[in-house]
This record gives sequence, structure tokens and C-alpha cells, in this order.
Amino acid sequence: GSTLQAAAAETGRYFGTAIAANRLSDTTYSTIANREFNMITAENEMKMDATEPSQNQFNYSSGDRIVSWARQNGKQVRGHALAWHSQQPGWMQNMSGTALRNAMLNHVTQVATHYRGQIHSWDVVNEAFADGGSGGRRDSNLQRTGNDWIEAAFRAARAADPAAKLCYNDYNTDNWSHAKTQGVYNMVRDFKSRGVPIDCVGFQAHFNSGNPVPSNYDTTLRNFAALGVDVQITELDIEGSGSSQAQQYQGVVQACLSVARCTGITVWGVRDSDSWRASGTPLLFDGSGNKKAAYTSVLNALNAG
Ligand code: G3I
Repeated sequence: GSTLQAAAAETGRYFGTAIAANRLSDTTYSTIANREFNMITAENEMKMDATEPSQNQFNYSSGDRIVSWARQNGKQVRGHALAWHSQQPGWMQNMSGTALRNAMLNHVTQVATHYRGQIHSWDVVNEAFADGGSGGRRDSNLQRTGNDWIEAAFRAARAADPAAKLCYNDYNTDNWSHAKTQGVYNMVRDFKSRGVPIDCVGFQAHFNSGNPVPSNYDTTLRNFAALGVDVQITELDIEGSGSSQAQQYQGVVQACLSVARCTGITVWGVRDSDSWRASGTPLLFDGSGNKKAAYTSVLNALNAG
């Protein structure tokens, strides 16, 4: 294949990007996005603060713009994210207990119902595990409603949109030897054994010099897949430049291609200038929209698979 989406499709996988609704009018941006990618994630527009700015008053305008652009151009959509400790609307941030639990479940139900039938995979719960060596849950207002809040969110999402794949999504879960990776693995194993509806695990894959692409990445992906879930690289970006960055991108693609249930890769933005890492160059296209060495290494790795 001569584009990322075409090359990934040859092995039955997708290749996606995060899209920001307010950049779609930039034709350099939308031309690259349309040509290279066939899976779209809303970078911010489907988050809790965007979709429910006031309690029980939902605003889908920006999320709908992204879904409609994706559908017009024949692309699928990953939903991001139904429940998260961060990017909560102000009214939710100080809630607790049963009121918060019910508000969270109502949010999951309403948003998943609005987008029912249009979402390939939902990040139902995002970033619920703690950093560091504990392997346990992150403290948050949602966690303080009870340890079962994650499975309650997954059950609500399944009821609202039975066709969407339901994912748990997190960062720094790439290295198999990290406690956080093990914590998520144990939760997914428990969910599968008890019939909690989970279909996939997303690995955000935000890499930098302090958090490099691990040499055991394929082991991590394979071990999760062996639990009976699909795995996806959901927010890939890698700090750096030139051949070092290109090689690390190649390693991520090769790890995914080595696992049958690694069904797709999404990069977290189009050009370096679109990245949330404002001062970095972590993506596949430079600020002018030119293909970087990292682009070529990803395309070649996909074609070699
Ligand atoms: O659009 C408003 C603008 O109107 C306002 O004036 C300005 C002032 O703060 O904020 C603008 O919103 C910002 C938004 O990005 C759009 O640029 C928010 O402040 C800013 O917080 C938000 O950052 C996003 C971040 O998530 C928020 O948590 C990044 O774009 C987005 O790339 C990033 O994505 C996350 C994933 O959702 C989860 N995994 C990690 C990943 C990277 O942090």
C-alpha cells in the first residue's frame, strides 16, 4: 500500500489519527487525514466536559462534526472517552458518592446512546490506574464511589450500544514488567472471568526518552490478547526526530503486527504542529505536512507485515 491506511488494510488492520474539529477547515490537514487514515478519534470533542457541560444538558455539536466528516469520507470512529477522572465538567468535579455514580452512569448511557451504531470501539474508561509501583487504582472521585465503578460503566455502555467494542484505555502500560501494566492485566483477566463486558484494551503509547518503546512490547500485547480481548495502539506519539524516532515507530508497528488480535494503530494527531506536545516533533508529518522519516518507516513496516 502507498498510504498508511492501505498498507494496514493489507493485514486486516486499521490506521487512525486523532482529529480536532476546529482544524478540519485547514485543507492541508484534512487532505492528509483523508488520504492516510481510516479510523478517527475525536481528540477532545467526545470527552465528558465537551458532551455534558451542564448536568443532563448534552452538547454533541463538535463530536457530531467529527463523526459526520468521518462518515462522509468512509472512515470508522473510535469513541473517546466515556468516563475519566480528568476533563470532567465543573459540576461533576466536586460530586461524590451515589450522586456521582448515577451521574457517571447517566453520562455513559446518554453519550453511548447518542452515538449508537456509529462507533467502532469506545474508550469506556480512561486512565483509571495509578502511576508508580503500586499496580492499583488511581485515586479519583469516581474511584471513591466504589471499586466496581469501572465494571458498572462497561455494563452501561454495553446496554446503550451493543455493537460497539468496549475498551479500557491507559498510558504507561506498554512495558510488561511495570506494575501498572500488571494491574490493568489483572483487572481485564478478572472481568473476562466474571463476564463483565470488555472487548478490547487500548495502549495510548505516548513515548519519550523517559518512557521509551519497550523491547518487550510484543509480549505485553500478546499476553493481553491471550485473555480474549483485542488490543489497539490508541494515541501513539514518540518524542524525538530523524532515524532514532523512525526506528522506534517501526518497533511499535512490528509489535502490533506480531499479534493477531492487535487490530489497529492510531497516532495522536496529523502534523507535529497539531500535537498536544506543543514544543515537540512527535508525529509522522512535519508542520508543513511533509512526510517525515518516521512516516516512511511506519509505511515500510506495515508493508513488510
Ligand atoms: O479550546 C480551548 C480554548 O477555547 C481555550 O481558550 C484554551 C485555554 O485553556 O483551552 C482550549 O482547550 C484545550 C484543548 O486541549 C484544545 O486545545 C484544553 O485547555 C486542553 O486541556 C486540551 O488538552 C487536551 C488534553 O487531552 C486534555 O486532557 C489535548 O488537546 C489532548 O491531546 C489530550 O489528549 C489526551 C487523551 O485525551 C488521553 N490520553 C492522554 C492524551 C494526551 O494528554
